[in-house]
Amino acid sequence: MNTSLTRFDITGRVAVVTGASSGIGKHLSKALANAGAKVVVVARRAESIAELADSIGGHAVAQDLCSLQDFDAFAQTLSAPFGAPSILINAAGVNHRQPADDITVETWNETLHLNLSVPFFLSRALVPGMNGDGSIINIASLQSVRAFPNSMPYGASKGGVAQLTRAMAEAWSSSGIRANAIAPGFFPTELTQAVFDNPEKAAANAAQTCIGRNGELEDLVGPTLFLSSAASAYMTGQVLYVDGGFTAK
Ligand SMILES: NC(=O)c1ccc[n+]([C@@H]2O[C@H](COP(=O)([O-])OP(=O)(O)OC[C@H]3O[C@@H](n4cnc5c(N)ncnc54)[C@H](OP(=O)(O)O)[C@@H]3O)[C@@H](O)[C@H]2O)c1
Repeated sequence: MNTSLTRFDITGRVAVVTGASSGIGKHLSKALANAGAKVVVVARRAESIAELADSIGGHAVAQDLCSLQDFDAFAQTLSAPFGAPSILINAAGVNHRQPADDITVETWNETLHLNLSVPFFLSRALVPGMNGDGSIINIASLQSVRAFPNSMPYGASKGGVAQLTRAMAEAWSSSGIRANAIAPGFFPTELTQAVFDNPEKAAANAAQTCIGRNGELEDLVGPTLFLSSAASAYMTGQVLYVDGGFTAK
């Protein structure tokens, strides 16, 4: 392999992907495995992640991340099959799409907890095992910088994810652990089904991009491999918008 390309190599690295039972987490789990990583996949739907793990030679850990109390013990569980992970993709997320008047303390807390608190506590628990060479990738959003209807807690959590990413870099990058975020535009998954089921809304979102279309899951693979690998060795604390230029307009 050409020496510049070897910097993209993640063969043999151990990765953890949360939110791996569907959408972005599932697609990125397959991409990391295709690139040679050993992938531990996490979500609540045990059957779905077991099937995925089988198909990619990975390992499945079924867990409700909202009810998790002991993140250090969970880090041990995640490290058991292949050794300590050096790549973490925090992709589990929820958006209840409630108008402000319908938001309850429960839905607010669940959204903030899963989307913002869990990435912090899980990352902190895995950082010591990364042993000075790790990459954390948080999944931010257009809503890290833009407001959309019926998404107040989601937007608050994703604004937080962008800042959390910088704070992680400040805390851990001098020890060799990089933290970056990918902010996807509109990608068809369970989370965005309501948007894609409405052709007018989907077309309006596509028209808002510079490129003129919504995202396809494969569009996230290159940026993920880049941020996972030594190709991005001097990059930390950044939010990479993979949004077809939505935020450029
Ligand atoms: N799709 C987009 O256009 C888009 C745009 C910007 C940002 N994002 C972000 O990308 C990430 C992935 O979203 P997606 O679009 O791929 O949505 P998705 O298909 O709905 O996936 C969400 C994942 O989170 C997991 N999850 C939900 N609650 C959980 C819990 N309590 N414990 C453990 N896992 C839980 C789900 O698995 P189980 O139900 O099996 O637990 C599922 O695997 C999210 O952070 C989302 O905010 C998506």
